[in-house]
Amino acid sequence: MDLGVDFLGHSIKNPLMNASGCWCDNKDLLDDLLQSEAGTFVTKSATSEYREGNPKPRYIEVPLGSINSMGLPNLGIDFYLNYSLEFQNNHPDDINFLSIAGMCMEDNLSMVKKIEQSEFKGITELNLSCPNVPGKPQIGYDFEATERILEEVFSLTKKKIGVKLPPYFDFAHFDAVSEILNKFPLSYVNCINSLGNGLYIEDDTVSIRPKDGFGGIGGAYVKPTALANVRAFYLRLNQDIAIIGCGGVESGKDMYEHILCGAHLVQVGTQLMKEGPQVFARILQEFNELVKSKGYESLKDLRGALKSM
Ligand SMILES: Cc1cc2nc3c(=O)[nH]c(=O)nc-3n(C[C@H](O)[C@H](O)[C@H](O)COP(=O)(O)O)c2cc1C
Repeated sequence: MDLGVDFLGHSIKNPLMNASGCWCDNKDLLDDLLQSEAGTFVTKSATSEYREGNPKPRYIEVPLGSINSMGLPNLGIDFYLNYSLEFQNNHPDDINFLSIAGMCMEDNLSMVKKIEQSEFKGITELNLSCPNVPGKPQIGYDFEATERILEEVFSLTKKKIGVKLPPYFDFAHFDAVSEILNKFPLSYVNCINSLGNGLYIEDDTVSIRPKDGFGGIGGAYVKPTALANVRAFYLRLNQDIAIIGCGGVESGKDMYEHILCGAHLVQVGTQLMKEGPQVFARILQEFNELVKSKGYESLKDLRGALKSM
């Protein structure tokens, strides 16, 4: 099957990519993604300035996924914006995603302004859902703050903006968030970020140092929640808002299920950290075999085709 996707007018060779924060923090890791089979890539969520992040150990892999409390260690917006501009110069037909996660409203707005004033032609991902910065609640769980930040952001830019959302768990919340998102010219929503503030115990002891062991959960643990969020937003958002599915993608079957629930693009986080960038070729091959065996002829036919009982 031809895996090419038309995403917001850009053609992308296949719908698989990294999740922000996974294999994309610095030049070497980003260069690895460019060499991989991923269709496109997103950079590490940037703040206005370099951040050291939380004390280590702050990420561990566990049999069913991962727990992390990274605290947004990153090289600062200038690095990721310059990397993206260079990528764009060298690959004029391709696009990438630039993730930002300001420490406060002013921070976010100053990064949006900087991107607006640059030649960046890709898509900015506003991360409203980092669960791991001590003292900073996830904006995506504060609906008024979410609306306020989107109002400010869209008053500053005409460039393409998507949002990365935390997982929601209640129909009332899917409805309320969708109503807000539908008011704005958003390019896409990406769901889900890590399932916030889990606890993983080993030998009677918490397994990561920051926040007394509380950390964001990824991997197989979160797949049902991720699929539910993709489906819920697919059914509620205006048709011109695309969906990126993220959470628990380890195999071609997981990728298939995200697209079945309505995802246009699919991201790999924990499994990319575990397996390295060769994960994309493996998952794409498994996906190809699966769609062929199911008789689908195009990605368009598969997207959103989840059946009711
Ligand atoms: C080590 C690590 C760092 C992460 N950093 C970010 C980040 O900077 N920005 C972001 O939006 N999500 C971040 N995430 C969340 C992932 O992008 C993804 O949403 C989450 O892990 C669920 O996907 P998975 O089940 O494939 O891991 C991070 C996840 C991990 C494991």
